[in-house]
Order: sequence, then C-alpha cells, then structure tokens
Amino acid sequence: MSRITANRSSKKPAIPNEVRQSPGQPSRPHVPDNLFDLTGRVAIVTGASRGLGQYFARALAKAGADLVLTSRKREDLAAFEKEVQSLGRRAASLELDVRDQRSIEKFAAAAENVYGHLDILVNNAGCNVRKPALEVTWDDWNLILDTNLRGSFFVAQAVARRMIPRSYGRIINIGSVTSVAGYAGLGPYGASRGGIRQLTMSLADDWGKHGVTVNCLAPGWFRTAQNNVMYEDKEWVKYLVERIPLKRPGQPNDLDGAIVFLASEASRYVTGQTLLVDGGISTGAMRALRKTT
Ligand SMILES: NC(=O)c1ccc[n+]([C@@H]2O[C@H](COP(=O)([O-])OP(=O)(O)OC[C@H]3O[C@@H](n4cnc5c(N)ncnc54)[C@H](OP(=O)(O)O)[C@@H]3O)[C@@H](O)[C@H]2O)c1
Repeated sequence: MSRITANRSSKKPAIPNEVRQSPGQPSRPHVPDNLFDLTGRVAIVTGASRGLGQYFARALAKAGADLVLTSRKREDLAAFEKEVQSLGRRAASLELDVRDQRSIEKFAAAAENVYGHLDILVNNAGCNVRKPALEVTWDDWNLILDTNLRGSFFVAQAVARRMIPRSYGRIINIGSVTSVAGYAGLGPYGASRGGIRQLTMSLADDWGKHGVTVNCLAPGWFRTAQNNVMYEDKEWVKYLVERIPLKRPGQPNDLDGAIVFLASEASRYVTGQTLLVDGGISTGAMRALRKTT
C-alpha cells in the first residue's frame, strides 16, 4: 500500500463551516453561489484506472474537487493522476483491493492522511462475468459478489468512520440498470447490483443522522473496457438501441451531471435514492440482451 504523489501546490480551504451539517439539527439553509461547486472537497473514486471511474473523477475535478484515485496497481493510475493535476486539482493515487479487508483498512487510513479529511466517496470498483445461469461457477459468484457488494459495503464503512466525526459526507454507490431489472446472463451481477440499491437505502438510514448521505447512481448501457466486446456486435447494438427511449447507448459523459449532483450541496436533502441514468431503458423495454440459451 503506498501513495504515488499528492500535488500539494495549491492549498485549498477545509470544508466551510457553514455547509457542515450537525447531527440532530435541521439542515441550515446555506446556499452557495453555485450549488454544484466542489471546491475544497476531497473525493475518493475507487476503480479509477479505466472506464467510468475516470469519467467520474474528471467530472468531480472539473467541479473543483481534489481527488484520491484507487486501483489494485498504483502504476495503472500514474497517467490519470497527472491528467487530474493538469485540471488544476490535487490528486493522489492509492492501492486498493476491495476484496481484501486489510487493503481496505490501510487504504482508508492513507486516504484520510492525504489531505486531512474525506468528503465524497464514489464506490465504483466493480467487475462482471457474463454467462448463462447454468454455466455460472462458485468462483464466478464469489468474484462478483465479493467485489461489487461486499467490497462496496466495507469501503463505505471504512470511509464513513472518517466522515461521521466531521458530520459530513457524500457516499455514491455505483449500481446499474440491473439494480432494478433482470437480464439473462447477468444473474450474479444483477444480484450484486440489486444488493447495492438495497444497501444504499439501509446505509442512508444508518448515517443520515451523522450528516452523511448515501445514494446510488445506476448507469444503463455504456460502452467501456468491461463490456466492449458486446458493442462489436452491430446486430445487438441495433436491438439495444431500439429498446432505449433516447435511441442511443450512453456516452460516459452523460453521467457527469448526476455524479456532480450527488456529490454536491445540490443533493443535500437527497439520501437513500437510486438515480438511473439510462436513456430510459428501465422504463419498460427490458429485454436488451441477446438470447443466451
Ligand atoms: N460500463 C457500463 O455500462 C456499466 C453500467 C452500469 C454499471 N457499471 C459499473 O460501473 C463500474 C465501472 O464500470 P466500467 O465499465 O468502467 O468497468 P471497468 O472498465 O472494468 O473498470 C472497473 C474498475 O474497477 C476496478 N476493480 C475491479 N476489481 C477490483 C478490486 N477487486 N479491487 C479494486 N478495484 C477493482 C478496476 O481497477 P483495477 O483493475 O485497476 O484494480 C477498474 O478500475 C463497475 O462497478 C460496473 O459494474 C458499468
């Protein structure tokens, strides 16, 4: 477990007192000039070595946040850490394996030490194995559930322990359209994402009194390294697009507004919710996958 570097050149103010929430007190009507401004906030994005995690991190950095980026291999973050710093934000890289309890504990302590406080967690690290249900193995199940569900819970717990003493936090669990719908070939994955939605509600109930909100951002169909192979099948893409009311798969930047909203003061009275950003596919036309049996 080690850190690459933290660019400490630009000193940012600590979280302003007027936007802190005190446990048991009604929320104060502080209205910053820009409800979406994240200046002075520190955001962790797990699984930032590629894919959606990098888009989330960019969007938060552009809104003003300093970043703690994680991957199982710190060297996989080196280039992206520099990119975030080139946006004028501080960025640090930490190793984290969400399937390893000791790794989570070490990471959380190190993350708090980087800038002295933690404000935002994007619980994005995840994996998938696409298989017909009859072919799913014991190990497939454990990999998916351990990473996506158990990992997200224990990362949230370790970070919340450090948010609660400051009476402020924004935890954003990444779910999926499979959090609310079933798809052939995605049984264990859907179970993990449905679990994330449920976990989000329970954690929101647990930690709301401490000023920590917990929400779930649930992307629909976005092309990334995790699912690239599916998008090479033009027939499937046509089939998928026909079932998306907005008539196209998601572009990762389509998630920028939602992640900044859930990380910012704009969402201060929103907790326990699942926000689907899916072009509307969850509204009804669910059979987007090719037949698997
Ligand atoms: N793409 C989509 O359409 C879509 C839709 C809905 C939800 N999602 C979810 O959004 C998240 C990002 O998706 P993506 O498509 O960007 O996936 P991706 O390209 O496969 O990236 C996954 C990230 O998770 C990290 N990761 C995997 N296992 C890990 C572990 N055991 N410990 C720590 N980090 C781990 C990886 O980092 P290292 O390998 O470097 O450690 C990587 O940075 C995932 O949770 C995914 O399930 C994706």
